[in-house]
Amino acid sequence: MVPVQTEVPAEAPELAERFEAVVAAEQRIEPRDWMPEAYRATLIRQIAQHAHSEIIGMQPEGNWLTRAPSLRRKAILLAKAQDEAGHGLYLYAAAETLGVDRGDLTERLISGRQKYSSIFNYPTLNYADVGVIGWLVDGAAICNQVPLCRCSYGPYARAMVRICKEESFHQRQGYELLMTLMRGTEAQRRMVQDAVDRWWWPSLMMFGPSDGDSPNTARSMAWRIKRHTNDELRQRFVDMTVPQAEHLGVTLPDPELRWNEERGGWDFGEPDWTELQQVIKGNGPCNEQRVSVRKAAHENGAWVREAAAEYARKQKEREHDV
Ligand SMILES: [Fe+2]
Ligand SMILES: [Fe+2]
Repeated sequence: MVPVQTEVPAEAPELAERFEAVVAAEQRIEPRDWMPEAYRATLIRQIAQHAHSEIIGMQPEGNWLTRAPSLRRKAILLAKAQDEAGHGLYLYAAAETLGVDRGDLTERLISGRQKYSSIFNYPTLNYADVGVIGWLVDGAAICNQVPLCRCSYGPYARAMVRICKEESFHQRQGYELLMTLMRGTEAQRRMVQDAVDRWWWPSLMMFGPSDGDSPNTARSMAWRIKRHTNDELRQRFVDMTVPQAEHLGVTLPDPELRWNEERGGWDFGEPDWTELQQVIKGNGPCNEQRVSVRKAAHENGAWVREAAAEYARKQKEREHDV
């Protein structure tokens, strides 16, 4: 691991010492505390990207809200989409404690200067996709996010505790939907297999590039923002998912998947990293659509922001009058 140099403020070197000590003691850095600028910038980038993913992530499934096959399925899917909106809000609020404005973050998203998770640039073609997203995509999100509950930055860690509880519900509802389809007709089983075939590799890519191509990981781990490397988390996800796939009765589309007795984990094939790079660059199947829908929603909501700002202004005026 690369040793990490933390900048030291010339006027008060003891602040940097305190920062290092708090992180080393597994305590939390709070908004009022001194922190290195690079730590702040890393967190802003990561939390913003995470918040954007929650909000953009409502689109692929939102597509199916009006076409849910039953009232029960619709109620479940609505609850899930609303949870994701809530996750976005907690995370934008956590980012704001670092001195940024959520309006600016949204601007950076819709102008393409900030990213969101690559997974949401794939289309949802049928209702089995709703189940597979819950099972695989929310499942991968759980692997990524559970360790973030121990992140060294307090507001982010606390937001993640509640988010993770809700993500477990998302995963369970997806798996339950798939179990129901698998007990159905032959055509329904084919729908599930088709959705698994399309979502498996993009789900593995959610953990980001392999460790050799992830230059910031060492620093984020030293700062205890991240706890595990991308490849460790990907392995954990595969090990968790393979028995679930067997129980469900689907085949994961990877001919290299086999149990490795020696290391007690599943060996698996290499994701298509060129595809991941293309999707990150904006050339995935739905990138343009996702960003333009987000942009239109932001513009259509301008009147709400204006009304809220005006209301706040009047409240302030009234306080002054009293
Ligand atoms: Fe979420
Ligand atoms: Fe979720």
